[in-house]
Amino acid sequence: MKKASLILISLFAITLMMSSCGGGSQPAAEQTAVKATGPYADLPADIQAMMPRGEELYKTKCTVCHQVTGLGIDNVFPPVSKADYLLADKVRAVAQTLNGSKIEMIVNGKKYTQEMVPQVDTKEDAVAVINYVLNNFGNKDGFVTMAEVQGIEIKPRKK
Ligand code: HEC
Repeated sequence: MKKASLILISLFAITLMMSSCGGGSQPAAEQTAVKATGPYADLPADIQAMMPRGEELYKTKCTVCHQVTGLGIDNVFPPVSKADYLLADKVRAVAQTLNGSKIEMIVNGKKYTQEMVPQVDTKEDAVAVINYVLNNFGNKDGFVTMAEVQGIEIKPRKK
């Protein structure tokens, strides 16, 4: 009788020890940790996958005005680096990249009035380049999804 309860208690203790050591959950957590490296590691996989395209677009199409640094030129071309205006509305940023913008805007306290013509032709490209911007130039500001920009209408291009 005494021996049996002793065995039961030690079995219980062993079970406790095993579960507190993590058992099956530990290796899964380690796997995620190994995968999560690189500058875009905390972003969803589909957003990470857009980054090479976004970088290519920025470097070929945007640097001439917004500069390699993303700082723009004061009162002429607005910054995309830590730009309060851009970060306030990511969907608007996608829409402006797609359809251009010709309004008066205040970005980080400076006024911009020049026109930006449409820069890309597809929502995929606009989303890719804005996601690149949101995670470079000192920005670490999340991302915008294709679903979020569904409502944007691509305006006919001036011929
Ligand atoms: C020929 C110059 C030029 C090029 C090239 C250009 N932009 Fe712009 N961009 C501007 C100007 C000028 C404005 C301000 C427009 C306004 O006042 O309505 C602007 C505004 C913006 C804004 C909103 C303001 C801000 O800084 O947050 C975003 C976002 C933006 N551009 C993204 C891009 C992206 C992305 C590209 C490349 C795909 C690009 N632009 C290429 C000139 C340019």
